[in-house]
Amino acid sequence: MTAPNASIPTVRLPYGTAAIAAAAEVIGRGGCVAVPTETVYGLAADATDSRAVAGIYAAKGRPDFNPLIVHVPDRAAAEALAVFDDAARRLADACWPGPLTLVLPIREGSGIASLVTAGLATIALRVPAHDAMQALLRATGRPLAAPSANASGSISPTRAEHVLRSLGGRIPLVIDDGPTARGIESTIIACVGGQVRQLRPGPIAREDIANLLGCAVGGAGAGIEAPGQLASHYAPSRPVRLEAMAARDDEWLIGFGPVAGDATLSADGDLVEAAARLFDALHVADMAERSGIAVAPVPDTGLGVAINDRLRRAAVPG
Ligand code: TXA
Ligand code: MG
Repeated sequence: MTAPNASIPTVRLPYGTAAIAAAAEVIGRGGCVAVPTETVYGLAADATDSRAVAGIYAAKGRPDFNPLIVHVPDRAAAEALAVFDDAARRLADACWPGPLTLVLPIREGSGIASLVTAGLATIALRVPAHDAMQALLRATGRPLAAPSANASGSISPTRAEHVLRSLGGRIPLVIDDGPTARGIESTIIACVGGQVRQLRPGPIAREDIANLLGCAVGGAGAGIEAPGQLASHYAPSRPVRLEAMAARDDEWLIGFGPVAGDATLSADGDLVEAAARLFDALHVADMAERSGIAVAPVPDTGLGVAINDRLRRAAVPG
């Protein structure tokens, strides 16, 4: 296993047959590779191989109490690993493949490494829509644990360049398929004990989940179900100031709608476009060598809830 500070050459390959074959080979021998999904780039390894999973934690420098999402090719593969209730089935049918993660009771004998679930009785499962991740799942024939492909606590990667900046020298391979479509991590919904709760806001809004199910969707309980929701999860290296109408001093201003800024999340005030650009805008702002980063107000409705959740975390010092 590679120590976090050891330097290894990181190869970047465009998504295609050769890249998938190379990635499957690395995963087959217990390594991890960065691969695009429709949300953010993930750092994938065989979820049944505890040494491989330890390699993810080592590369990310991630605290070990933070469980990982397991990616599978379809609902049948998911049902082999976890127990679905009615609500979970309906959400899976409506949203998979896509940016929804379900936290469900884990099946006994699932074969998933306990390091993946951090010893919890539940497992987080997702059927991704991106062709590259689907091709890798089918080429390896393994469930793939994949957190976002960035060093723990830093900004999530929506481009191969972001992965290289954060994990270059720590992982052997990045599959490059350009910027991700959604730009923000999956919505996490727990269906456990007959209750449906949102653990992390994301591309699929809580209202949409509630409408699909025809019932109220609760929020996260205190702490334990979403141990990964550390306050400073997405922190750039410079101070971040929110709700800014203008830059102060030499701050880099990220605009939205009428606030133009040095760069904008969406000049038209389009929340889908803003989500897709969010992490790239933070990466660019972080590299701008200014004293701080200011961000224009983003409305707290629909996708704006997930955007503001990530912005608030970015504004907490790392
Ligand atoms: O869009 C995404 O979900 C991306 C792409 C790569 O698929 N993945 C991602 O994974 O965001 P990660 O590891 O950065 O986030 C995993 C989140 C954490 O907040 C963790 O606490 C939560 O999922 N999680 C994992 N297993 C859980 C469980 N059994 N119960 C509650 N939360 C869990
Ligand atoms: Mg992450």
